[in-house]
Amino acid sequence: MILVTGGAGFIGSNFVIDWVAESNEPLINLDKLTYAGNLQNLAEIQDDSRHIFVQGDIGDKKLIAELLEQHKPRAVVNFAAESHVDRSITGPDDFIQTNIVGTFNLLEAVRAYWSALADREKADFRFLHVSTDEVYGSLKPDAPAFTENHPYEPNSPYSASKAASDHLVRAYHHTYGLPVLTTNCSNNYGPYHFPEKLIPLMIVNALAGRPLPVYGDGMQIRDWLFVKDHCSAIRRVLQAGKLGETYNVGGWNEKANIDIVRTVCRLLDEQKPRADGKSYSEQITYVTDRPGHDRRYAIDASKIERELGWKPAETFETGIRKTIDWYLTHGDWVANVQSGSYREWVETNYGNRK
Ligand code: NAD
Ligand code: TYD
Repeated sequence: MILVTGGAGFIGSNFVIDWVAESNEPLINLDKLTYAGNLQNLAEIQDDSRHIFVQGDIGDKKLIAELLEQHKPRAVVNFAAESHVDRSITGPDDFIQTNIVGTFNLLEAVRAYWSALADREKADFRFLHVSTDEVYGSLKPDAPAFTENHPYEPNSPYSASKAASDHLVRAYHHTYGLPVLTTNCSNNYGPYHFPEKLIPLMIVNALAGRPLPVYGDGMQIRDWLFVKDHCSAIRRVLQAGKLGETYNVGGWNEKANIDIVRTVCRLLDEQKPRADGKSYSEQITYVTDRPGHDRRYAIDASKIERELGWKPAETFETGIRKTIDWYLTHGDWVANVQSGSYREWVETNYGNRK
């Protein structure tokens, strides 16, 4: 049995679905169901008895302690977080609460549980913390990609809160010997991606005939990985990662934002042409930049490749096609997540951009 947190969000739900498909080991999925958590993401496994869903907060030490006592998991995989940079700029509080205080409370509950285990279970236990490349800050155009030794230089409230959580996880290993592993992954994309992030926002706005808002000059660079490849990397690190180590996860796919948006438009032009015969790229609109916008992220994934033999299965070209197909065939999911609170967010984030 493993305990997964945040398993109703984008990456967590993909991880849970893949876990159930590939393993007989049951899992408990603890998720607060914030605006980003959605049980509909888990509809395909709703009748599977190996998946136990519990609504709750990683900051609720009592609840975590009860779940650990009751289910005695051999590992915790921590996805739960506030994850959107723009929201961290307009309202950082939740990021501090969940990403820092929540991770701290989770670590405390796990430490108490782990300390009381018998020697064998104690040695086999793992706490895997899922983090991001954004903790490393922004790269100059010709700088080498981030290795695990790159200094932490977070620039947004989101990345600063994730950096703080990474430091706590590290400290719990060094101070208490908690058997931790940390992964720092690049930008993910794929099914169940909430349409506040670049790729799904561009797909749903394009199809709805709305503007495609590109921040600043659109030349910021992100390094993209198909979500299922992130999930396979996490499974591999959980299985074979060295205790206390961090692993960078990425697919060597650096792309400028404007190129991503143009690729999305080109594929939609092919697969669902606009009624007027024009390209979706006509909808591209440059808007005011994000404050403190990091210019470039790039992951050097050689350590996980070399030491754990992990490699992504998808290229950007195959992954983005799968993603577009998924959105074209899941209009109901898109309609359901575009609730009242989603519409409020669109007004907050885009209303004041010129
Ligand atoms: P997401 O926002 O889609 O999902 C987060 C999930 O956590 C949601 O289901 C939400 O309900 C849940 N949650 C939030 N606060 C909680 C709390 N206090 N207690 C319990 N559950 C809570 O995020 P995501 O994109 O799936 O990211 C998952 C993890 O991966 C995060 O830790 C993020 O920092 C990290 N990450 C994301 C990316 C990316 O490109 N999306 C890349 C690298 C790392
Ligand atoms: P995002 O998906 O929010 O991920 P992150 O900020 O964590 O990398 O954004 C990816 C890139 O796309 C980032 O450089 C900001 C940019 N972006 C836009 O240009 N327009 C948008 O509407 C959004 C949401 C993002």
